[in-house]
Amino acid sequence: MPATVSIHGQWSTRLAFILAATGSAVGLGNIWRFPYIAGENGGGAFVLVYLACILLIGLPIMMAEILLGRRGRQSPINTMLTVAREEGLSRGWGLMGWIGVLAGFLILSFYSVIAGWALAYVFKAGSGGFTGLDADGSSELFGAMLADPEALLAWHTIFMVMTAMVVARGVQSGLERAVTILVPALVVLLIILVGYSMAQGAFADGLRFLFRPDFSALSANAVLLAMGQAFFTLSLGMGAIMVYGSYLSSDAAIAKTSGTVVAADTLVALLAGLAIFPILLAAGLSPAQGPGLIFVTLPLAFAEMPLGLYFGTLFFILLVFAAWTSAISLIEPAVAFLVENLGATRVFATTTVAMLAWLLGIGALLSLNVWAEYTLFDRGILDLLDYLTANILLPLGGFLIALFVGWRMTERSVQSELRLKLGWLFTLWYFLVRYVAPIAILVVFLRAVGLV
Ligand code: PHE
Ligand code: NA
Repeated sequence: MPATVSIHGQWSTRLAFILAATGSAVGLGNIWRFPYIAGENGGGAFVLVYLACILLIGLPIMMAEILLGRRGRQSPINTMLTVAREEGLSRGWGLMGWIGVLAGFLILSFYSVIAGWALAYVFKAGSGGFTGLDADGSSELFGAMLADPEALLAWHTIFMVMTAMVVARGVQSGLERAVTILVPALVVLLIILVGYSMAQGAFADGLRFLFRPDFSALSANAVLLAMGQAFFTLSLGMGAIMVYGSYLSSDAAIAKTSGTVVAADTLVALLAGLAIFPILLAAGLSPAQGPGLIFVTLPLAFAEMPLGLYFGTLFFILLVFAAWTSAISLIEPAVAFLVENLGATRVFATTTVAMLAWLLGIGALLSLNVWAEYTLFDRGILDLLDYLTANILLPLGGFLIALFVGWRMTERSVQSELRLKLGWLFTLWYFLVRYVAPIAILVVFLRAVGLV
């Protein structure tokens, strides 16, 4: 008989879960990563494929991941072992949990570096550093930050300590409440920015860039990147949503909850795109400039708009918060596992994982300056970590989740956990999990390596 409550605690209400899962989903992925990857891959067609992946792969896999977490009620590794045992399946499925823990650790290491950029920009904005900035000045400001390993290290360290402090205190420690204010505030600020873009930016060009698909420009690799972005932005395929699901009460509706989280995440990403591209295009900057995209573009808007000093500072503060609520979900799977299997305290487990990720993060931030010449597959450490996790590890994790829930668990267990009242909705979801998601992931993988 599976446990009805996790030893790590439980969300106070279904809303608390929605807030925490939204906190995990909405982050740098929406505001930093989505625009830069979409920009590098030509916009329109990429965005359409991304949205299709969100709906046809992301949403159904999110439901599957929450379902698994709630059934196993433990860290992803032990959840997989427990559910596999209940279903009479191989212990090998525990490996899926391990892949997730590894992915979370790798993501956290570079995520913290990028969140450090956002922290640095809070202070640049607040001290009037954007005043009078033009496109060249903005690029120089960003370049100067990347060239300064000590500053990057300081911000990276501060962010990692912030993350560890929250995780060490446990599941219901206040951050879930912060999200209630944070996400709506972020949406309001993004809407203000979109308003500015409409008035001052090349709005029609921005719209065209984002939403007019040109499929002839879409490479097999761009499709892989769109799918990877869908996994990354929804926090799927590595157990973050699974471990959050393990703290969800038995009577909460999984489908409705997932729908809410996916909608909020997609809204934030699209608003970010609508805000950024018109400003970028009006300033004559290249959409394909890579990870610096928002850090070069947004200061231009804040330099010009009324009250730009305040809006700019507030924006980067909100971005740091959004990154913070995502980062805590990146280590929670590993921490829960160490507590379960080594009897470690949360404080010890958190410190250990955060320190290791911090060390790897140092490698990532050095790859932006002193180690810039060391590359593998033409990528520095940070770039490689980003590419490998989002485009390979997360979709692989999602593929295994779809296989497990769609093909290995009995339909009865799945149905009894999901408890969808509408029969056709279950049929649709089950079809997506059994066929559409795994086949799509497989085909995208094979095409990207040139096998089909
Ligand atoms: N979804 C987060 C974002 O968009 C990143 C993340 C990925 C968080 C995977 C947890 C797990 O920023
Ligand atoms: Na996201």
